[in-house]
Amino acid sequence: MLPTRAYLFAHPAKHSLSPMMHNAALEALGIEARYEAKDVPPQSLLAALEELRHSGAWGINLSIPHKETVLVHLDSVTPEAKMIGAVNTIVIKNGLLEGHNTDVYGFMRSLEQAAIETRDKKILILGAGGAARAVAYGLKKAGANVLIWNRSVERAKALAEEFDLKLIETPILPASLRTAHGVVNTTSVGLEQPNSSPVSADLQPKDWVCDIVYRPLETKFLKNARECNLKTVDGLGMLVHQGAKAFELWTGLEPDTKLMRQVALQELGV
Ligand code: ATR
Repeated sequence: MLPTRAYLFAHPAKHSLSPMMHNAALEALGIEARYEAKDVPPQSLLAALEELRHSGAWGINLSIPHKETVLVHLDSVTPEAKMIGAVNTIVIKNGLLEGHNTDVYGFMRSLEQAAIETRDKKILILGAGGAARAVAYGLKKAGANVLIWNRSVERAKALAEEFDLKLIETPILPASLRTAHGVVNTTSVGLEQPNSSPVSADLQPKDWVCDIVYRPLETKFLKNARECNLKTVDGLGMLVHQGAKAFELWTGLEPDTKLMRQVALQELGV
């Protein structure tokens, strides 16, 4: 039996694609270790972290509902993760728990892989939840001209002030969306209602759209854009690359991201 060196803490945890992706990458590099998903309810988070502190584990990925609440339990947090207010990767070093956010890297890398330029480009973010924070941080840092829209304007306003974004204050998306180079959907619309999109099909930006949802892989939002001949970026890229960065932090080695995507696609039945 190979020793488990990396974990995912989530609740629920059973539908995660991360174990498949990480284990395929570990095996391909001949690393004798395994990654395991653990169902950790909120009240057990602290105990579960303490259990691993001196266990020889390399680290932990965090998913819903732990990304924000974990911060107070860590010994250190990178400035980036602190700004975003979320940690999705812990590195365990000498019994200390270091919090990182690799979602930002994952998101930006997925755009880069699609040959999408962001510097000085007008980019609209839909949604103002936790995922929008990571996307906004990454795009701002890359020098994009970022606009934000959310169903509840108040939430978007708070994010716009915090990250210095331009706020779209109307409850309905304006036609000026057409002047944006790209649109990123961080709302949960495609996930909760697979046949819905937060944007009407006739309203498209100039060049590209990206959805951070990967189940389904092609959301209605992406399908509408593809049918208008726009470039589309699915949410699996962000998942794969956030995982790859965590893998690198833990092992010092670069995993095979093509293989990771391939096994994730298989698991999704695509
Ligand atoms: P996460 O942390 O994954 O981003 P979240 O904090 O629950 O999740 O945020 C979900 C986002 O999807 C929010 O921006 C939410 O809008 P509200 O702030 O107005 O609730 C957005 N969202 C969810 N359902 C939506 C819908 N039917 N139409 C438009 N936006 C929706």
